Amino acid sequence: MLRICEFTNMKKLIVANWKCNPTTLKEAKLLFNSVKNGVKNIKNVEVVICPPFIYLSNIQHLKSDIQFGAQDCFWEQNGAFTGEISPSMLKDLGVDYVIIGHSERRKYQQEKDSMINKKIKAALKIGLKPILCIDKTSQIRKLQRSVKMNEVHRLKKDFWGAIIAYEPLFAIGTGKPCSVDKAKKMRIAIKKKLNKNIPILYGGSVDSQNARDYVKKAGFQGLLVGGASLNAQEFIKIVKNVAKA
Ligand code: PGA
Repeated sequence: MLRICEFTNMKKLIVANWKCNPTTLKEAKLLFNSVKNGVKNIKNVEVVICPPFIYLSNIQHLKSDIQFGAQDCFWEQNGAFTGEISPSMLKDLGVDYVIIGHSERRKYQQEKDSMINKKIKAALKIGLKPILCIDKTSQIRKLQRSVKMNEVHRLKKDFWGAIIAYEPLFAIGTGKPCSVDKAKKMRIAIKKKLNKNIPILYGGSVDSQNARDYVKKAGFQGLLVGGASLNAQEFIKIVKNVAKA
């Protein structure tokens, strides 16, 4: 199992979540190659691309310094689970990271905390680095009272080695990012509940204008980028701006 200390001197981490895009392999390769060329001389940022599963093996061999992640995984390593992709399969492909518990999966696939919990454990067991997405609902002001507090408690006990992505629902895909001050408060609150060395990313309407502030002013270890990661030039700018932070 990964240990938390592996992350203490970690580079800034910029994770591209392509979600269900683009619709052709040709476009996926083009996007990947543009990003690869644009970030190749940047040393102090780890860039992770999470394409749809189906493109992973096709763009894996184009790999440079870019790391790969999946957008989800199942909680068993193999067996009679039609349609699922296991952590072992991802590991075998050379994937390092896996996003788990994204709000879109909670919403459209009805993923529950208990499932997310099992997925995190299965990913850690096989040596993947899970990126657990958590949010804060507008009605619940403090993380202590959050409906997601269960995750944090379980995480504290079981999940050393995970990365947290704070992704407020109102900011995801809306073009309305969380204020830097509010995001900073959440980062500090999450850290207090967990461990001071746990890496915490910010996600939600990140673009090249605001990226640096989340790292420099709000102190996040990195970013989880959705929409803006589909535009190679915009994504490269995000990486460059964070590299300067
Ligand atoms: P967004 O998505 O950058 O398009 O808001 C972020 C995410 O869903 O991880």
